[in-house]
Amino acid sequence: MKTPPRFSRALLSSLAFLIAGSLALSAPPSIPRLEKRGPAVQLIVDGQPYLALAGEVSNTASSSLEYMDTVWPKLVEMQLNTVLIAVAWDWVEPVEGKYDFTLVDGLLAGARKNNLHVVFLWFGSWKNGISSFVPGWVKADQSRFPRTQIKSGKSVEILSTLSDTNLKTDTNAYVAFMRHIREVDSAQRTVLMIQMQNEVGLLGDSRDRSAAAEAAFAQPVPAELLAYLQKNKETIWPDLRKLWEAAGARTAGTWSEVFGPSTATDEIFMAWNYARYLGHMTVAGKAEYPIPVFTNTWIVQPEDKGPGDYPTGCPQALTIDVWKAGAPAIDLNCPDIYLPNFNEWVAKFHRPNNPLFVPESKEDAGGAANAFYAIGQHSGIGYSPFGIDNPSRMMVVPGGLSAQPLPRAYALLATMTPAILEAQSKGMIGAAWLNTKLQTQDIPLGDYIVNVDLRRNRRNPAEVPALGYALVICTGPGEYLIAGYYVQVTFKPNTPGPEIAGLARVEAGNFVKGVWTPGRILSGDDILLDYDLAGAAARNQSGSGLRFRNEGPAIQRVKLYRYQ
Ligand code: DGJ
Repeated sequence: MKTPPRFSRALLSSLAFLIAGSLALSAPPSIPRLEKRGPAVQLIVDGQPYLALAGEVSNTASSSLEYMDTVWPKLVEMQLNTVLIAVAWDWVEPVEGKYDFTLVDGLLAGARKNNLHVVFLWFGSWKNGISSFVPGWVKADQSRFPRTQIKSGKSVEILSTLSDTNLKTDTNAYVAFMRHIREVDSAQRTVLMIQMQNEVGLLGDSRDRSAAAEAAFAQPVPAELLAYLQKNKETIWPDLRKLWEAAGARTAGTWSEVFGPSTATDEIFMAWNYARYLGHMTVAGKAEYPIPVFTNTWIVQPEDKGPGDYPTGCPQALTIDVWKAGAPAIDLNCPDIYLPNFNEWVAKFHRPNNPLFVPESKEDAGGAANAFYAIGQHSGIGYSPFGIDNPSRMMVVPGGLSAQPLPRAYALLATMTPAILEAQSKGMIGAAWLNTKLQTQDIPLGDYIVNVDLRRNRRNPAEVPALGYALVICTGPGEYLIAGYYVQVTFKPNTPGPEIAGLARVEAGNFVKGVWTPGRILSGDDILLDYDLAGAAARNQSGSGLRFRNEGPAIQRVKLYRYQ
């Protein structure tokens, strides 16, 4: 019989060491990523789903570490877990080819000291359309770094999307930045995502009129875009499909032939060129360190007459599909929403292939409602009001910063985060966003339709508050967890059986270290009763419901039963 080869103990242990070492090397590092969990796409940080309760500091706050030293503790007091901070190309490459990341390291140190995560905004070629954060040596050399031209023949301070030199030079700096992030952060993972540029797009004309742009506009539409339109015909944005079909749903042709001669076609052309530029940079950056990347959009304003009044080429409702085709490496195209109809805008940007993150919006009481709605109704991965360090917001207010509406909402959302993320992954979450123009909302969830109404005055039901909001989670059959502010909530059975929903038990309470901890057991004057709902009979409701006051959002847990 052949004897098996004998290995010395030393040889065996060094083999084991080598195998363990190579496993460690090949195991994917748990860097931040997006993951589809049920119907939701969530941000995964250190292997766990993460909800970004964020805020963005003003544009140049991060150019001074001394200034940021005064800001960090206030961000913590405001209950943020994530901060959006600009890093400008000019700040890290003031001299061509010489990178200086001292500022980046200082920002990371400040964030870490305050237990905050960071989303860096790369202010490279464009910031609000304009090339104002590019280094001076780029600005001053127009022949090397070509610019966009508008109809009047005027060249504007906007780098051209069609210049390889512009693209290569910005990409070099961005790649160096991402390499640095990998080197200094892949172990600690303070940085969660990157915003690529800021509100790109051309202002002042519907498209670039430079010679290079005119030549590109006369070329055939790229095959990738046409293939995307054909493949996704049923799901592309209806207005884009209409343009394409009105021009004959062609599968080849120039921009004007494929989409028809209009300024919308100019916008599509610009969107493609910006998407290619930002998409190229994203691919190059991800080769260094592949964390999620998003864009942010200056959305169309009510007074705008056409593209160019708003930055043409930015990912808008019409052109998100163009961006998906032109820049598939960009994970999210996000809206900056300062307009009052927040609910309509998030609905335009949240799509099956475009999960929702709101990188800029408001931080007042309406901002709290926005955060609840984005996270609850659209399974958003986070919310981030802009200018969170604005001195007027930083003023000492009665009760301190943490008593402000958004910090109170964030504090509550933070305690509920595990429940929220689980409900997002099961599709068992919704939210209501109410005001005097939109006073009531039905949320079908589980076996019931949950009606959230502005909290009405018992004696005069027409009297309603200016604002109310709620986040609703179905935790089991007939069981709901509701975080609400100034609303009343009723339930209508949505499955066969007895027609009326009653409250078996209502608890006010909180999550303490992730565990539901009941406080008062609510009934009587502290809930809605049949007689309160008499006026609501027209809405076919009966039974009883919940009431939430306006001291700040609060949580109630309810178990329902049915009768007839
Ligand atoms: C939107 C931009 O994206 C921000 O950087 C900032 O300029 C705000 N507008 C100012 O309101």
